[in-house]
Amino acid sequence: MKKTIIITGGAGFIGSHVVRLFVNKYPEYRIVNVDALTYAGNLENLRDVEAADNYIFEKADILHTDDLERIFSTYQPDGIIHLAAESHVDRSILSPLDFVYTNVVGTVNLLNAAKKLWGSTLYPQPSTFPRFYHVSTDEVYGALGETGLFTEETPYSPNSPYSASKASSDHFVRAYGETYHLPVIITNCSNNYGSHHFPEKLIPLFINNIIHKKPLPVYGDGLYTRDWLFVKDHAAAIDLVFHKGNNLATYNIGGFNEWKNIDLVKLLCKLMDEKLGNVKGTSEKLIAYIKDRPGHDRRYAIDASKINKELGWKPSVTFEEGLAQTIDWYLENTEWLKNVTSGEYTKYYDLQYTKR
Ligand code: NAD
Ligand code: DAU
Repeated sequence: MKKTIIITGGAGFIGSHVVRLFVNKYPEYRIVNVDALTYAGNLENLRDVEAADNYIFEKADILHTDDLERIFSTYQPDGIIHLAAESHVDRSILSPLDFVYTNVVGTVNLLNAAKKLWGSTLYPQPSTFPRFYHVSTDEVYGALGETGLFTEETPYSPNSPYSASKASSDHFVRAYGETYHLPVIITNCSNNYGSHHFPEKLIPLFINNIIHKKPLPVYGDGLYTRDWLFVKDHAAAIDLVFHKGNNLATYNIGGFNEWKNIDLVKLLCKLMDEKLGNVKGTSEKLIAYIKDRPGHDRRYAIDASKINKELGWKPSVTFEEGLAQTIDWYLENTEWLKNVTSGEYTKYYDLQYTKR
């Protein structure tokens, strides 16, 4: 019998890369993508795999327990990879409750559905099935100063409503592991970049704005630091942890690739000018320093030595290669960009920036 894996949030940025990897790499699995198709979910992201025999799409909101009950009893999943979430920090500042609902309540709904199906059995280690895998973020750890790295032992100290909701959902996942022996596993990953990334996040927003010669809104002094990882390397790490990680373990995933925002923006401007055939320095002129994000975390950086030593994972592409591939994808897919930045989304986007 084929193993069935539910992937939630599979129509989003990272989820679509995970679905594509699993559908292509594991014909022996049946992949069920459960996604509500919010503003961030887009089935265009999965056109190349939608006709595959081992792929099924279920449009469902993880807040609707009736839908989850139907889906779990129909497909009887052997594994769940949970990525569905509200994922944008700026939106969480404007509308924290949406994040509590989807990220916290939605995750608990999925945990309940898995518990009902799998019972409270103590499964042996190591074992892949059944497994409930929560894809989480490094933002749960809060902010770093000039030095130091987040390890799996760093205490949780979330600063934004988004990271508070992800921290809370991580705690529920862990609690279901301890209390009901649910076979759970969590990864905390740094900032991803790559194709199909919604243009509200720094890199795709700035690529889109450069294409349209619009201002590049750098928050505060621009000296905030993020650790960037190519999304396909994150998907590869998820595959590895899903199959080889230990229940109740957590793993940090990161790019060993720290950039101050302003340096990254200048690099992006330079690469975009080269690709667009612009005079050197053209895009940098679009940089506009604006009011800071409230509660803005100064620096994130991941110590990914545990996943490296225990499971042999490391990033496969350099930042230069990954960024060049990403820019090429956006330049070749301007229609995708146009579609996702039209209609309702445009209204929200304008609202966000006039509020500052
Ligand atoms: P995204 O916003 O691009 O996609 C989220 C997906 O979840 C969308 O397809 C959306 O339709 C779906 N969704 C949202 N609410 C839903 C609901 N109530 N029911 C069902 N589906 C719903 O997000 P992303 O950037 O791909 O992030 C995916 C996961 O990875 C999230 O859990 C996020 O916290 C985590 N993460 C993201 C990053 C990053 O850099 N983007 C880094 C670390 C961890
Ligand atoms: O660290 C992992 C997290 O990375 C994920 O959990 C989140 O889902 C993901 O959105 C991302 O969060 P960030 O807040 O770090 O990403 P964002 O792209 O929004 O911002 C990156 C940095 O750039 C941050 O310091 C804020 C700054 N920024 C962002 C935007 C959108 C700007 O200066 N200007 C902007 O317009």
